[in-house]
Amino acid sequence: YNFRVRRSRKAILEFLFTGLRRLEYRGYDSAGISIDVDPLPPAESLQDAAPASDVPESNGHALDNGHLSNGHSLNGSLNGDLDQRLTAQGSVPVVLKALGNIAALVTLAHEELCERQVSLDTVLEHHAGIAHTRWATHGVPSAVNSHPHVSDAANEFVVVHNGIITNFQALKDFLIKHGEKFESATDTEVIPKLCKYVYHNLAKTVPFNELIMEVITQLEGAFSLLIKSSHYPGELVATKRGSPLIIGIKNAVTRGRSSWGSMDGSGKRAATGALECFIASDASAVVEHTKQVIVMEDNDLVHLQDGDYQVFNAAAEERRNTVPRVLLTLTMEVSQIMKGGYDHFMQKEIHEQPDSILQTMRGRVRFERTSKHAVDPYKEHRILLGGLTDQVETIRRSRRIMFIACGTSYHSCLAARQTVEELVDVPVALELASDLMDRHCPIFRDDTCVFVSQSGETADTLMALEYAKVRGALLIGVTNTVGSAIARMTHCGVHINAGCEIGVASTKAYTSQMVAITMMALMLSEDSIQRRPLRDAIIEDMGKLPDSIREVLKLDDEMKALAEQLKKEENLLVFGRGYNYATALEAALKVKEVAYMHSEGILAGEMKHGPLALVDENLAIIVVATRDRMYEKMKSVIQQLRARHARLIVLCNPGDPDLETLMSPKCRLIHVPRLADCLQPIINIVPLQLLSYHLTILRGFNVDQPRNLAKSVTIT
Ligand code: G6P
Repeated sequence: YNFRVRRSRKAILEFLFTGLRRLEYRGYDSAGISIDVDPLPPAESLQDAAPASDVPESNGHALDNGHLSNGHSLNGSLNGDLDQRLTAQGSVPVVLKALGNIAALVTLAHEELCERQVSLDTVLEHHAGIAHTRWATHGVPSAVNSHPHVSDAANEFVVVHNGIITNFQALKDFLIKHGEKFESATDTEVIPKLCKYVYHNLAKTVPFNELIMEVITQLEGAFSLLIKSSHYPGELVATKRGSPLIIGIKNAVTRGRSSWGSMDGSGKRAATGALECFIASDASAVVEHTKQVIVMEDNDLVHLQDGDYQVFNAAAEERRNTVPRVLLTLTMEVSQIMKGGYDHFMQKEIHEQPDSILQTMRGRVRFERTSKHAVDPYKEHRILLGGLTDQVETIRRSRRIMFIACGTSYHSCLAARQTVEELVDVPVALELASDLMDRHCPIFRDDTCVFVSQSGETADTLMALEYAKVRGALLIGVTNTVGSAIARMTHCGVHINAGCEIGVASTKAYTSQMVAITMMALMLSEDSIQRRPLRDAIIEDMGKLPDSIREVLKLDDEMKALAEQLKKEENLLVFGRGYNYATALEAALKVKEVAYMHSEGILAGEMKHGPLALVDENLAIIVVATRDRMYEKMKSVIQQLRARHARLIVLCNPGDPDLETLMSPKCRLIHVPRLADCLQPIINIVPLQLLSYHLTILRGFNVDQPRNLAKSVTIT
């Protein structure tokens, strides 16, 4: 969206398309936009101008290969005057949507707008454009199910939505009873139709924001919404509950210091000077335009009109009053969201790990040992996580520390659990957020709950957070996203500072999460003299992590060659135990989610209780057998697998005579550097990330956009 600055339609379209490209990692089943165009001439003259076959039969909805749903013929006879200056007044929203990726939408939009003779060079002074890239929840991926959704053929209300409206069926039944017809199988379509219903049934016309406040009181579930309307030309309302939404503000300068000077992005601002607003699900769509953002709170509603934006809150006592919101400055750099010389984001993010891990530790770890001559060496901090300092004592006194997460983030907790158990005298529990909620797992006020999430927005993790909050537990966040819901809703926490992660399959966030939780355990055990040698050894090896990962990344070609050998396999097992049980699960997850190869991570201790039945001379098996405390046991696992003629790929440390003798056409060794036991999983996963990357490329799949998956799962 942009306004109060002169922009050509072409520039507006480019803003929208670029924004969509940046957000494509959140969903890529289909995409759509809505911009304002000049109104079409009366229908009679249209019919004269267009052959009957060009006029959509119904009301202009739903051509499955993409369509223009403004209810008019595509052959509208508008002539855009290049020098004409238009405002949004008198213009009408046009909706364009296409199945597939953003490139498909761009082609379609240019064709349709060209056919409609919409001048892309026309300069507009105010404008509200909306765009959406979809990850299908209700209704298959198709143009008709893609967003924006509209109230009717005239596009009285046009809506894009992230989230799920849980009471959509009841609303749909109600609206059908009142004569509405539905085109799509989505939950979203009830929203524009509800807007229209409320608009026409209010006793008097109300401002756009007040109308939408009425509408959202009827909605249950999670949503972030952008809404345009032909009744409110040039205006836009954005609102959210449960799903994320931020407002990027460019040229956020006002006359007085009272609001902006104090970094208070409150309601009404002075209507002077150029100003552009970009509203999006996350900062990657905004950062190339501005670093000034407002992170919207639940039930917030921003109204853009006449060169002003105002923020309201529907749950506030006086809903008509604007609410103050803090203007944050993003630390993210544009380069972080570009591929920067790599072919894919996943590849870039794997190779960034020496640096991302360094960033996680920067300013928090003192690598050199305390001087022997220090007065009280045990008082010297070697690990300092600023976000946790005030809570250290409370955590140490907790009944238990409970880690709660989903997907790869859960695996990072599993990998680091043993470190916390070894260093901190508090029992540790581990929960998948969805399972915790399914079981209504007991949580008590003297529990410490640690929510680990790259995005900080995962719906299941957020629900578990709400659940733990009600029960009075101490809430800690470990996230990669400053200003995310988890960062805001927890009492304290640690930002992993891994930099923006775009590849849907998490890589660098995983290794940084393990480092962050390890730092947390080290900080919590600082009072223990008994554990000092162990802590010192771990901290010393943490300093070696970046170089060790650099070393492992040199295995790239070797992993590509291995992928070449494995690319036709249908199954792959990964065995690990102890610290590396998580490595097995995470490696298997990477292979299945991007390379679409069936793959299972197996706790080696359970091998004899089932998995061994799968083993024959054809099945490829990766065994993680680095020289940690589990090494002897893993060697025995290898012997048993060899006795069944298994095809083995053994991840091990170099210079191991026992394993070197295994090397044969049926057994391949991959050497990784040796570090402290608890840091070894951070190293071990890297070659397996590379393997899953190369497998995917060799099998011909899109590594950054695996089918059916999304980076940030903001629905339960
Ligand atoms: C999705 C992503 C995974 C991620 C998981 C949890 O499934 O595809 O890569 O691990 O969500 O996400 P979070 O942002 O909470 O770490």
